[in-house]
Amino acid sequence: MTEIRIGVVGATGAVGRVTLALLAERGFGQVRAFASSRSVGAKVPYGDDELEVEEATPEALAAGDLDLCFFSVGSGPSSELVPAAVRGGAVCVDKSSAFRLADGVPLVVPEVNGERATAHDGIVANPNCSTIQLVCALAPLHQAAGLRRVRVATYQSASGAGADRMKRLQEQTAADGDVVMDWDFDGEESDEESKLRAETRKILELPELPLSATCARVPVLVGHSQAVWVETEEPLSPERACALLEAASGVRVTERPTARDAAGGDQVLVGRIRHDTAGEGLALWVVCDNLRKGAALNAIQIAELLLARHALAA
Ligand SMILES: NC(=O)c1ccc[n+]([C@@H]2O[C@H](COP(=O)([O-])OP(=O)(O)OC[C@H]3O[C@@H](n4cnc5c(N)ncnc54)[C@H](OP(=O)(O)O)[C@@H]3O)[C@@H](O)[C@H]2O)c1
Repeated sequence: MTEIRIGVVGATGAVGRVTLALLAERGFGQVRAFASSRSVGAKVPYGDDELEVEEATPEALAAGDLDLCFFSVGSGPSSELVPAAVRGGAVCVDKSSAFRLADGVPLVVPEVNGERATAHDGIVANPNCSTIQLVCALAPLHQAAGLRRVRVATYQSASGAGADRMKRLQEQTAADGDVVMDWDFDGEESDEESKLRAETRKILELPELPLSATCARVPVLVGHSQAVWVETEEPLSPERACALLEAASGVRVTERPTARDAAGGDQVLVGRIRHDTAGEGLALWVVCDNLRKGAALNAIQIAELLLARHALAA
């Protein structure tokens, strides 16, 4: 079998580096690294080897010598570069918000709505990191009891804002150790909060689902945490919710998970499953490695699903 030719676009970034590490672990041999003109000629690790970074121009990506591209470059560059790669014949898994809500573009978390992935026109969108872990926890509860209302507060790590932000946190911590929570999302309702609602609605196919979110950045390097309050149409006890989540693919139930427990792992950890003492529903705590399942791993799982179903040609 001819080996598929893969491009990792945004290879020097926080997500791109994890994408390369996961592809190398899986033994993919034909991988090229792309980033901005700033990084041309730089080397990025690929397993025991290194790849030389090429400039991600529309011409290079449209040249017709890539079958599959992973994009983690932000929505501005993605808007221009992803269509170029599609023109060149590649199927693109894009991690920016550029195409997530577009009609006809599947927005996929394989454990939740993997069956949607094959209905693509060259682009499959990867949800926001907070959305991925949230829907992994909500979907089994929704299937069993129907979601009526969701409230969520997030405590998101520095790596969710990219490699520069990680470096800044490391420097601040080394300098004086006095690092505090940060409201780095703007607006009365931030983009991060509205994305969480819109993407959750699209993935769960619940266009009217009432969902309110408060998203904050905390001084943690890797791993997003979420406090989640869920009301369901049918009564759902904490014990039943626990059993449903224990049986769910990609989820592990554990008593009191922390971001540190999730960092470096592949699963969404759910714990503190209990009655919401202020309402009728349940309260839970959900954590996940935002760079792995929240980004790079989810994208690779999408690609593996497309490969398994022979759905890599656009
Ligand atoms: N971090 C997360 O947890 C996470 C989770 C889900 C989704 N995402 C999404 O993934 C994307 C990247 O996130 P990140 O955290 O990896 O950011 P990052 O660490 O800042 O990396 C950005 C990457 O994009 C490249 N880039 C920037 N402008 C470019 C351009 N005009 N042309 C080509 N390449 C360009 C950069 O290359 P240079 O080094 O050459 O500048 C770098 O490789 C964003 O859309 C983000 O929303 C991130």
